[in-house]
Amino acid sequence: MQQSQLIWMNGRLRKWEDAKIHVLTHALHYGTAIFEGIRCFRTEDGSAVFRLNDHISRLYDSAKIYMMDIPFSPKEIVNAVKETVEVNSLQECYVRPIAYYSYGEMGVNPLPNRVDVAIAAWEWGTYLGKDAEEKGVKCQVSSWKRVNSAILPPQAKATANYANGSLAKIEAVKAGYDEAIMLNLNNNVTEGTGENIFRLKDGILSTPPASDGALRGITRDTVIKIATDNGMTVRRNTISREELYTSDELLLTGTAAGITPIREVDGRRIGNGKWPYADKIRKEYSDVIHGRNRKYRDWLDYVVLERKVKVRA
Ligand SMILES: Cc1ncc(COP(=O)(O)O)c(C=O)c1O
Repeated sequence: MQQSQLIWMNGRLRKWEDAKIHVLTHALHYGTAIFEGIRCFRTEDGSAVFRLNDHISRLYDSAKIYMMDIPFSPKEIVNAVKETVEVNSLQECYVRPIAYYSYGEMGVNPLPNRVDVAIAAWEWGTYLGKDAEEKGVKCQVSSWKRVNSAILPPQAKATANYANGSLAKIEAVKAGYDEAIMLNLNNNVTEGTGENIFRLKDGILSTPPASDGALRGITRDTVIKIATDNGMTVRRNTISREELYTSDELLLTGTAAGITPIREVDGRRIGNGKWPYADKIRKEYSDVIHGRNRKYRDWLDYVVLERKVKVRA
């Protein structure tokens, strides 16, 4: 990974290499951490963090589910995210706030442990590969089913959920695919391991509802708004495995992955191998995140990159 300089830990800035935790940290053993993935983009008016308040609000929702008392207010975390980008002088970057049950007591019950918070920011290119957005990706429907609300709540962005995603990703990558698509226990589509999914058929865009196990992705919401603005019909409805294969276009959406077309699922070419709708949505999305679409300026939180830094060990 592309290392930067400073990481925010519980209100202090530490050097990247000193941002360490104890090996007996509760979250490391029991998956009791919640996190966000956010991006900051360059715009004509300087760098701006995209939909920061929405990400932090989802972080606090995740914390609520895990009865995690984050010892900072949402406003403090919003400011800390901006500070982390600023002190690292990053014009474009990925930001990872994480809150976790920390060191103190071992055992499955996390509640006796302190909650710690860290925020790292670094340069991170397109998650699914350099050419993914242009050439599309190859996906495999995973043999691993997505976690659901009866087992592990998918709406909490908890590290534990990503063990489920990692199993699917390992299976897909080992079989020569770029990404896995996970079904729920009813064999309906949920999402990728780090992205939401959209299907285009006969000019109608659809995406699985949260009740089928999809994360309420912030990029998903952005795409729904952009597509609606462009006069498209957008539905949140159940998508079956076979409907994946017969789609005219499929796209993955996420903060890390951006808007990435899927060119193949389980060896079946999607549509005619072209994705005009995905290209249009990606262009509109690019305009929004880079501040070229005035309608969505409120989604941009500008940062000031020349801040002086005081590192406390
Ligand atoms: C499992 C999963 N689904 C969907 C998404 C996309 O969400 P967002 O657009 O908020 O990044 C992510 C990324 O956070 C994810 O990890």
